[in-house]
Amino acid sequence: IMWPTRLAGMLLPAMAFLSCLRPESWDPCVQVVPNVTYQCMELNLYKIPDNLPTSIKNLDLSFNPLRHLGSHSFSNFSELQVLDLSRCEIQKIEDDAYQGLKHLSILILTGNPIQSLAPGAFSGLPSLQTLVAVETNLASLEDFPIRHLKTLKELNVAHNLIDSFKLPDYFSNLPNLEHLDLSNNKIRNIYHEDLQVLHQMPSFKLSLDLSLNPLDFIQPGAFEKIKLHELTLRSNFDSAEVMKTCIQGLAGLKINRLILGEFKNERTIVNFNKSALEGLCNLTIEEFRIAHFDEFPGDDLGFLNCLPEASTISLMGLYLDELKIFPKGFKWQYLNLSKCIFEHFPTLELTFLKQFVFTANKGITTFTKVNLPNLEFLDLSKNGLSYKSCCSHRDFGTTQLKHLNLSFNNIISLDFQHSTLKQASDFSVFLSLKNLLYLDISYTNTKIVFLRIFDGLISLQVLKMAGNSFQDALLPNIFRDLTQLTELDLSQCQLERVSQEAFGSLLRLQVLNMSHNHLLSLDMLPFKNLSLRVLDCSFNRIVAANGQELQHFPSNVTSLNLNQNNFACVCEHMRFLQWVQDHRHILVGAEHMMCEKPLAMQGVPVLSFRNATCQMSKTIISVSVLSVLVVSVAAVLVYKFYFHLMLLAGCKKYGKGESTYDAFVIYSSHDEDWVRNELVKNLEEGVPPFQLCLHYRDFIPGVAIAANIIQEGFHKSRKVIVVVSRHFIQSRWCLFEYEIAQTWQFLSSHAGIIFIVLQKVERSLLRQQVELYRLLSRNTYLEWEDSVLGRHIFWRRLRKALLDGKPWSPEGTEDAESSQDEATTST
Ligand SMILES: *[C@@H]1O[C@H](CO)[C@@H](O)[C@H](O)[C@H]1NC(C)=O
Ligand SMILES: *[C@@H]1O[C@H](CO)[C@@H](O)[C@H](O)[C@H]1NC(C)=O
Ligand SMILES: *[C@@H]1O[C@H](CO)[C@@H](O)[C@H](O)[C@H]1NC(C)=O
Ligand SMILES: *[C@@H]1O[C@H](CO)[C@@H](O)[C@H](O)[C@H]1NC(C)=O
Ligand SMILES: *[C@@H]1O[C@H](CO)[C@@H](O)[C@H](O)[C@H]1NC(C)=O
Ligand SMILES: *[C@@H]1O[C@H](CO)[C@@H](O)[C@H](O)[C@H]1NC(C)=O
Ligand SMILES: *[C@@H]1O[C@H](CO)[C@@H](O)[C@H](O)[C@H]1NC(C)=O
Ligand SMILES: *[C@@H]1O[C@H](CO)[C@@H](O)[C@H](O)[C@H]1NC(C)=O
Ligand SMILES: *[C@@H]1O[C@H](CO)[C@@H](O)[C@H](O)[C@H]1NC(C)=O
Ligand SMILES: *[C@@H]1O[C@H](CO)[C@@H](O)[C@H](O)[C@H]1NC(C)=O
Repeated sequence: IMWPTRLAGMLLPAMAFLSCLRPESWDPCVQVVPNVTYQCMELNLYKIPDNLPTSIKNLDLSFNPLRHLGSHSFSNFSELQVLDLSRCEIQKIEDDAYQGLKHLSILILTGNPIQSLAPGAFSGLPSLQTLVAVETNLASLEDFPIRHLKTLKELNVAHNLIDSFKLPDYFSNLPNLEHLDLSNNKIRNIYHEDLQVLHQMPSFKLSLDLSLNPLDFIQPGAFEKIKLHELTLRSNFDSAEVMKTCIQGLAGLKINRLILGEFKNERTIVNFNKSALEGLCNLTIEEFRIAHFDEFPGDDLGFLNCLPEASTISLMGLYLDELKIFPKGFKWQYLNLSKCIFEHFPTLELTFLKQFVFTANKGITTFTKVNLPNLEFLDLSKNGLSYKSCCSHRDFGTTQLKHLNLSFNNIISLDFQHSTLKQASDFSVFLSLKNLLYLDISYTNTKIVFLRIFDGLISLQVLKMAGNSFQDALLPNIFRDLTQLTELDLSQCQLERVSQEAFGSLLRLQVLNMSHNHLLSLDMLPFKNLSLRVLDCSFNRIVAANGQELQHFPSNVTSLNLNQNNFACVCEHMRFLQWVQDHRHILVGAEHMMCEKPLAMQGVPVLSFRNATCQMSKTIISVSVLSVLVVSVAAVLVYKFYFHLMLLAGCKKYGKGESTYDAFVIYSSHDEDWVRNELVKNLEEGVPPFQLCLHYRDFIPGVAIAANIIQEGFHKSRKVIVVVSRHFIQSRWCLFEYEIAQTWQFLSSHAGIIFIVLQKVERSLLRQQVELYRLLSRNTYLEWEDSVLGRHIFWRRLRKALLDGKPWSPEGTEDAESSQDEATTST
């Protein structure tokens, strides 16, 4: 039980010692930018760290239990510009706490339960522009000691306990104040006197946020003759009735932007009554925004009649039924209708309208013509609309259009779609929009069939058409007129091929997005004459590119994205892979480019592919090819000279031993009679008798003929007698035997071949057997003659030849000697 305590008793002093030894190693703050930005968030610091560089400009000390800020707390950091003290449990801030922070421009005190704020707490901050004191128990602006902060631009005191809207007199000393956020406080009433100070301000630039205050009452005339830049009143009113009186109370206000409405999750008015907005008629409003009112009276937008002089109207998240009541004379220039629910497309005829944003609305399915002669910017995206007739100047009533956004709609049933049905309806839908600079038809389920779809867009600079499709997955030359185009987005168009002329006219193209298509090779893109800077080919199926084509790759490209393709890291594409290595500086996320094939290389970074591998495998390939070649040649040779090898093997075996036969006779079966009747009779029965090897008699049955020839015939015989005849020459078998005999003669030193020419063989026939012919013409041979004398000589010569090398035997000595001098050699 005592162990842990003892251990701790030993360890703690040791740790304390270590920490004394190297204090800087305990430096806990994160150095975001060395010497400039440090992040010390949530480090359980009880005091301001003193080991940070004095040059620090941004310091985040949030979520530390500092609790108390004494004077000159930050004197060591005179360069500070941004100081975040959010949720530091600070309860007390003493005089001169920030003294010396000459450059501090942003001070954040959010979420500190301040009890005691000394009158000089914020002294010595000559550059402070933004003070955020959200959720700081602040009860009144009057006592907030900021009167000397002349440079203050933004004061955020939201989420406090302020219950009076009385703007203190010292505001007149804050000539730069632009934003005052008083939202989420306890203000209920606004009286005339509260705004007295605003009359003295050079105003019209103050933005005031009063959202989420439980407003009950605004004294009529309180805002009379007051100018504001912006006033936000969202989720302020309990009921339509209260809202009505309060808005009436705003009468006389001249304002640049009025924002009304509720927050999506903070809706309080149950039965909205159109009369609530009547009071707007007594205001001068430049820009009017209203958002998120449940049960908005969509059928009667009469309040908008109060705003004929406004330039900007924005309606968001409302139920609007339809819009069609505006007189042409309204001065509206910007109309923004988003996230609303309509029953019909608004019928608009606004002479001054320049910009119409109609986006993410619901409930309507078809676009209907509008008449907006000065319209330049039209955003019709995200409505799920079908555009039945689109998009000529007649449909918009304008020829001024510069931006047209039709993206994310159901289908743009541009007339060209029907071109397959009716040839006459081929129509360049944008033909009249010759001033258009920007066109977005992304994700409109459009299938491009008609090649002249973009004709007439001679000014177009940006074309986005992602998420559509093309006939046959081929990008044809549809950009002929778009000579001014600088940016083209063709991503997610299921493209497999690109026509060689497709980009021929796009001499100014700088950004080309071909990502998420099905391209197989980088050189499918016709690069010639393109002066691209950015090319995105990610998420395709690119395996490689022809190294030859890559020399046309635009030299001005500074960003190339090839991620998520099917690169084949094989030597075949060595040039391409080398090209990738050489261009890694322009590749986006080059290190994330992975090989897909071969299987062994899957998931390996393309950049790690080395040339050397190829050279090595080249050697390996050539070596293996060579060895295969050698082996097969050897096999062929072995096969061809199998018998010769057997002979060779046999030579060793039998070479030294006694020969069983004097001669092995090779002959054609046609000559067998002669062999039996003449040769065998004369040699075997004569004196001395010679033992002949004859296949019909001496070969061992059951053994292959070839094996017999070699083992019985050649190996066991001293000599070979070749009976040459017409039949012999014509028999392949005989010639084969003869061939082996030759090898045998070559191998076996004492061996000899005796040729007997049986009949006069025609020279011509003999000549076919070149080898034999040559042999016969060069060597001794015996010629069989039918005359008595001839036979005698024949036998004598044959016996003599056979006796040569025959081991001495008692019976044959005499004959052998006598015959020796008669040996003849003829040539
Ligand atoms: C940070 O400041 C110290 C002292 O002023 C200086 O020695 C050091 O070089 C600076 N480091 C950087 C990265 O500027
Ligand atoms: C300023 O830094 C010095 C050491 O660098 C330290 O002794 C002193 O306490 C610091 N002053 C404050 C107010 O933190
Ligand atoms: C709207 O308020 C007016 C009075 O301000 C009232 O006469 C009218 O009945 C109300 N309409 C609805 C629909 O509540
Ligand atoms: C506009 O203000 C005048 C007095 O300034 C008032 O008589 C009139 O009723 C107000 N109109 C609306 C619609 O509040
Ligand atoms: C349209 O209004 C919405 C909501 O007020 C706003 O977020 C959006 O920026 C506006 N769009 C334009 C183009 O003014
Ligand atoms: C066109 O509309 C889409 C969808 O609202 C948007 O993503 C795109 O940025 C728009 N283009 C411009 C230039 O506003
Ligand atoms: C290309 O389009 C894809 C999506 O279609 C997008 O994620 C990507 O950022 C675009 N690339 C560039 C360079 O704009
Ligand atoms: C590229 O431009 C040259 C002249 O600048 C022109 O002769 C050639 O036809 C063009 N090539 C293509 C494919 O457009
Ligand atoms: C590449 O850019 C330079 C200027 O950045 C330009 O002068 C040159 O014409 C461009 N090259 C091509 C092929 O467009
Ligand atoms: C790879 O081979 C190419 C020629 O195909 C050569 O120019 C390049 O220097 C080689 N690179 C390396 C790293 O060996």
